[in-house]
Amino acid sequence: MHNYIKSTLSMSPVMPVLTINNIDNVEYLFEALINGNLKVVEITLRTDCALRALETASKKFPTLKVGAGTVLNNEDLISVKNAGATFAVSPGSTISLATHAIKMKFPFLPGVSNSSDIMNLINLDYKFFKFFPAQAAGGIEYLKSLSGPFPGIMFCPTGGINQENAKKWLSQKNVICVGGSWIIPSEINDFKEITRRALLASSLSS
Ligand code: 3PG
Repeated sequence: MHNYIKSTLSMSPVMPVLTINNIDNVEYLFEALINGNLKVVEITLRTDCALRALETASKKFPTLKVGAGTVLNNEDLISVKNAGATFAVSPGSTISLATHAIKMKFPFLPGVSNSSDIMNLINLDYKFFKFFPAQAAGGIEYLKSLSGPFPGIMFCPTGGINQENAKKWLSQKNVICVGGSWIIPSEINDFKEITRRALLASSLSS
């Protein structure tokens, strides 16, 4: 399960974070992202239609790696797995959630923002983390400092990342990819613009 997270996060430099308010046209949204060469998405569980969006993405777009974000408790883990998500992401971490994901054998990217969070989770054998909220929690300098005590631990920084600063984050040796919502404009109706942004994001590299 940790290998699944590793290979999934290695597929694209950017994992778009999608908060979907309206299920209409959601298929165009996934198509636009795929046309923009993005291969992995995190659909947040923050809206009423999030589970339906997960179902649509996983059933109709088999080439897309569909993850569920804002997974906060064990019940969320079960519902997103049932909806077809192949991995889960959380903004922070609890031992209960991290242990439950292992019991379910469900790939999980827990959120961390400090050394104590990381220590709790490496005891459970986790090696890949969402660093959230990346800018507000200390930015690149903070993440760089974590590579000293935690060599080999890799992060997907998310929160405050955009097309302009993503390259700098991606050049850090402990960054496997970055996450962010900037690819999707607040009004999801300009699918050409989404593809344009996705192409720019997918061509980023360290
Ligand atoms: C998340 O849930 O990961 C964040 O809301 C994404 O942060 P961003 O909107 O600053 O990219």
